[in-house]
Amino acid sequence: MNILHIDASASDTATSHTRRLSSELIERLKAANPNATIVYRDVVANQLPHVDMTIRHAWTPENSGDAKLIETMNRSKALVDELKAADVIVVGSPMYNFTVPSTLKAWIDHVSIAGQTFSYTAEGPRGLLSGKAYLVLSSGGIYSQGPFAANDHLSTYLEVIFRFLGIQDIEVIRAEGVAYGPEQDQSAMASAFEKIEAIAVAA
Ligand SMILES: Cc1cc2nc3c(=O)[nH]c(=O)nc-3n(C[C@H](O)[C@H](O)[C@H](O)COP(=O)(O)O)c2cc1C
Repeated sequence: MNILHIDASASDTATSHTRRLSSELIERLKAANPNATIVYRDVVANQLPHVDMTIRHAWTPENSGDAKLIETMNRSKALVDELKAADVIVVGSPMYNFTVPSTLKAWIDHVSIAGQTFSYTAEGPRGLLSGKAYLVLSSGGIYSQGPFAANDHLSTYLEVIFRFLGIQDIEVIRAEGVAYGPEQDQSAMASAFEKIEAIAVAA
């Protein structure tokens, strides 16, 4: 089993909810699958540039040696190969301004490549990936239910993207409402850790 572990919190491991939860999930998955290989990608420590239009041409046959296109292609290809090799993806992502951090969005822009991770068909787009994704999320507010549910462009967006790329098996683990005080913070983390434990038992 190949596991791709992505972290996108700007906070360090000691304080980040998603970093603590995603690494706990990785430890549990490793324990259940001792031969698993883990590839770790920290999109904050190793930030990717925003894409420019070279991403459109880098993968095409007309990429005839232009240095900028080759640079874009090499960067994108390494990330696409890493993603294609993964049977399981664990994404740790906080909510920033109702959606993913821009560092994670940059990664998405580098791996969502027509002909590589999805294709266009007469019936519409088709995802070329398979496998499972765990979305390990955290937010100051509560969005899984209640009056702010319509503002959740984090879990909804990540689910759309992974399904678009062909990954239909998606499990969401969230620590929500962590800004509502220390009690809610602790209980949100406790219930997320419980969910991870349940996943480990089922694995
Ligand atoms: C730049 C920034 C933007 C944020 N935007 C939101 C937001 O739109 N909604 C929300 O509920 N919380 C928001 N938060 C709070 C984080 O989602 C919350 O603290 C989360 O637990 C962070 O995850 P982490 O501890 O793994 O870094 C924001 C935090 C930061 C730093």
